[in-house]
Amino acid sequence: MRKGLFALAAVGLLATGSMAACGDDSGSDSGSGSSGGGSAAAGKVGVILPDTKSSQRWGTDDPKFLKAAFDEAGVQVDIQNAQGDKNQFQTIADGMISSGVKVLMIVNLDSGTGKAVLEKAKKAGIATIDYDRLTLSGGADYYVSFDNVKVGELQGEGLINCLTEKKYTKPVVAELNGAPTDNNATLFKQGYDSKLKPKYDDGTFTKGPDQSVPDWDNAQAGTIFEQMLTGNKNIKGVLAANDGLGNAAIQVLKKNKLNGQVPVTGQDATVQGLQNILAGDQCMTVYKAIKKEADAASKLAIALAKNEKPTTATGTTKDPESGKDVPSVLLDPQSITKENVKDVIADGFVTKDAVCTADFAKFCTEAGIS
Ligand code: BGC
Repeated sequence: MRKGLFALAAVGLLATGSMAACGDDSGSDSGSGSSGGGSAAAGKVGVILPDTKSSQRWGTDDPKFLKAAFDEAGVQVDIQNAQGDKNQFQTIADGMISSGVKVLMIVNLDSGTGKAVLEKAKKAGIATIDYDRLTLSGGADYYVSFDNVKVGELQGEGLINCLTEKKYTKPVVAELNGAPTDNNATLFKQGYDSKLKPKYDDGTFTKGPDQSVPDWDNAQAGTIFEQMLTGNKNIKGVLAANDGLGNAAIQVLKKNKLNGQVPVTGQDATVQGLQNILAGDQCMTVYKAIKKEADAASKLAIALAKNEKPTTATGTTKDPESGKDVPSVLLDPQSITKENVKDVIADGFVTKDAVCTADFAKFCTEAGIS
């Protein structure tokens, strides 16, 4: 299935077509996060990020790495964040389109609004890139992300390892899934269910409550998990789709003095997630090297902004709704447990100072973070 979604194919044709109508970009540099000094030949790139609450990455990591990549290439970029508001998302897109961006890169809030924006951009002759989340039927020229089914597989395997260590008999597993409107959440679930279902089927684990969290909203995740635990006091493991959802579950477990006894998964290697791992409250997280993702996406955008045909897509992803193959770069995620939290620090994604604060210093020492 996964192989089918990511088959090698000829790339670049779509981009050539969509660039044909691009005019000269003489628009002034507007909006927060813009960086100046683009080379004369290159047009401006617009980037719309989704929110600042569903994960640390959108407010901190992605804008930092994207800006650095465009700055280094001397290409103007306008990076804005829709703050979880779909109207705002469309308003930002309209502004970028009328300001004459040559390339538009989006992380959609859902496929419907994402598609509307991509279509408008296309009509204006702007090249488009889906960043991290595929917009279903959106027809973006390129897609850059991680192997998201693999992300889910790592989460499923991580939870299985932690539950096996605890030696529980037929532990009840609860699933806290990501936003139902995010195609990634579907792929993560596909990955972890492929690992968990055989365990449910052979009776090693017991399938417990299984619910999606609208918009990846951490507060709602807390309420949902509280209800899960009230309804099923016997929950012994939580497959949480990212660190924010995982932390929401951990807070509820803490209130019930169950933290540390109930393994919880995560994703994104956030400072909070890593601290929860070091404290023994979280089983694992998935590290996605955002710098690599930002670099891959900006490479494509920079080529398009310079009217060059990108050569860096490595395969295609089949849009499951339209059936179209989207030229893609899909990167490899990494599983992180207490043993290798240090790898995330060594990679420069988070600093030791941010992770090893007062309460966590001793856990850092124990985990060999020096
Ligand atoms: C991203 C995750 C992120 C989640 C919530 C997903 O589409 O791939 O990294 O945790 O959205 O923002």
